[in-house]
This record gives sequence, structure tokens and C-alpha cells, in this order.
Amino acid sequence: MLVILKREAGEIYEQAAQLIASAIKKKPELTLGLATGSTMVGVYDHLVRLYQAGSVDFSQVVTFNLDEYLGLPASHPHSFHYFMHEHFFRRVNVQPRNIHMPDGSGRGNYDQSCASYEQAIRAAGGIDIQLLGIGRNGHIGFNEPTSSLASRTRLKVLSRETLDDNSKFFAPGEESPRCAITMGIGTILEARKILLLATGAAKAAAIAKSIEGPVASAVSASALQLHPDVTFLLDEPAASQLAQRDYYHRVLEMTALLTPDRLA
Ligand code: GLP
Repeated sequence: MLVILKREAGEIYEQAAQLIASAIKKKPELTLGLATGSTMVGVYDHLVRLYQAGSVDFSQVVTFNLDEYLGLPASHPHSFHYFMHEHFFRRVNVQPRNIHMPDGSGRGNYDQSCASYEQAIRAAGGIDIQLLGIGRNGHIGFNEPTSSLASRTRLKVLSRETLDDNSKFFAPGEESPRCAITMGIGTILEARKILLLATGAAKAAAIAKSIEGPVASAVSASALQLHPDVTFLLDEPAASQLAQRDYYHRVLEMTALLTPDRLA
């Protein structure tokens, strides 16, 4: 695992965008796993800026989103379809035919639509880079605590903590979704490279458990310890409970000297 520590959240977003843009330059038909949440807004803003400056071209990029609420139409302002359209897709040149998102419309056979999503990822040759945020309870995607570390794309019931975190986005009295379709932890672990971003003190405990705690289904992100190419990008508050911060700084200095490609 590479742990990149930065003072400001803005530096995290910029570095993640740069890592993605340089991967696209190397492989224009990159398959990109995308995430939602407030942490991702800054990454998408930077990617849009790079696109507008002519530094990155998404015309051949294929995207797969991690998750979607169950029961919200794509036009609902809190659906992840809407989020992705607003923050990213309408502002860059990803081709609509190359965009894939789990179907949260709530119609039909969930098992079948989840299996089709997995099949579409395989047909695209697998995910090259998967972007991840993290929930306060350590979830990645919507893999709530106790999710199987081998889980695949499926319907998932949201935890109380996640429902509480989400309720602030919905109008008073409006019912927020109780379930979601999410890539599984096993699905995520098959991505060739993973970038997990976290900012703010509210994520510090989840980050410390994920990086330095035991691998356990109680903290879904701890499963990333099993992946050979994971980069955590953290601002100071999110990194504040890590015991080995000095070591990560030293690794970063040596990485910049010996394998700078891993940082840009
Ligand atoms: C939701 C998403 C996660 C995301 C998390 C964190 O739960 N399913 O993929 O990581 O939100 O969101 P934020 O970045 O807003 O803290």
C-alpha cells in the first residue's frame, strides 16, 4: 500500500486527477471505476479542468460506477446517476455508450441485473483504476460492515450510520433510500489499481482501521490490504489517527526518488 499524505484536501483531489489523467494518456481506452460522494466532487472538478485545458481526452474511456441507491429514478437529484451527470459526464467527453452504472430503478430481477453488471465489467476487460471514497463506518461502495470480503455486485441494505449520514441530503420528511446496488468487495479487489481518497477528521478512525487494523469484514476497506496496488490519498485530519505516519512520509520521499511514476 502506498499512503500519500497531504496537508490540504485540495492537494488530494488534484493528485488523484493527475494520476487518472496520466493513466489515460498511457492507455486512452482506460476502464475507470468511479465513485460518488462529496470527496469525489473535487476530483471531478480537477479532471474537468484538465479536460478543458486539452490535457486529457475521455473519448475512449469506459466507466463503471460503484453503486446506486435502490428506488430513486436517474432524474432524482440525490441519485448517483444525477450526481455523475452533473459533476462529471455532462462536462467532459465520455461517450454515453461507454458509461455504466448499476440499475437502481428497482424494477425486475436484482440478481440478474447485478450479474449483467459483473459481466459488462468482464467484457470491458476489467477495471484498470478504481476510485474509492470511504464511509465513516469503513464502507467502500455500499459494502456495509460485515459484507463478505468475497462479495460481488448485489443488493445491499444500508446500515443505520449510513442512513443517518445520508438523511441530511434529503428534504425533511422525505424518505431516504434504505437499500442500494453496489459492486462487492470481491469485485472491487479485481481492479488492477485502486485509489482511495479520504479527507476530514470524521474519516480518521475508519482510515486507521483500514490501513493499520486487522483485515476484517467489520471494516470493509481493510480488505484493500489484500490488494497489490492500492494508493490511499489522505489529508492531515483524515490521517490523524495513523500510528505510522512518519514511516509513510519516508516511503513517500523514497518513492519520489526511486519510482516517481507512482505519484503522478
Ligand atoms: C457513499 C458512497 C461511498 C462514498 C461515501 C463517502 O456512502 N456509497 O462510495 O465513499 O458515500 O461519501 P463522502 O465522500 O460524501 O464522505
